[in-house]
Amino acid sequence: MDNKELIKKALEAKEKAYVPYSSYHVGAALITEDNEVYTGCNIEIASYSPTLCAERTAIFKAVSEGHLKVKTIAIVGDSSFTYPCGVCRQVIREFGKDAKIIIANNEDEYKEYTLDELLPHSFGPEDLKNANENKK
Ligand code: THU
Repeated sequence: MDNKELIKKALEAKEKAYVPYSSYHVGAALITEDNEVYTGCNIEIASYSPTLCAERTAIFKAVSEGHLKVKTIAIVGDSSFTYPCGVCRQVIREFGKDAKIIIANNEDEYKEYTLDELLPHSFGPEDLKNANENKK
């Protein structure tokens, strides 16, 4: 699946956004290291804080099906380029440290980033592992 096809999947997922409070639609589509495709939309809840972003919906769908490594993720939203929020960047850090992140306006207009560009000097699983090993 190429960038354009993945963006198309994200645009389709965006149509499913459940956004009665913000009316801001977001869609995400990802490919895992083992070439499975998962999509997600944002889902809003009346008490607000349980709201789930599109990126996390897609990633949690993949992880819950046993696919723990994201290779590429494409994100589309109602503004011309919708960047992942801080929480989603941290979740991508967990499951897609080396992922290609595509921020798309449409299938032809998109930008590509690494996680390190969007979340520099990040904290991740290795930090906990190293700290635990130092205690031994
Ligand atoms: N939203 C996402 O789905 N992804 C992001 O990274 C940015 C924000 C959603 C959450 C909420 O439903 C709406 O956009 C407005 O914040």
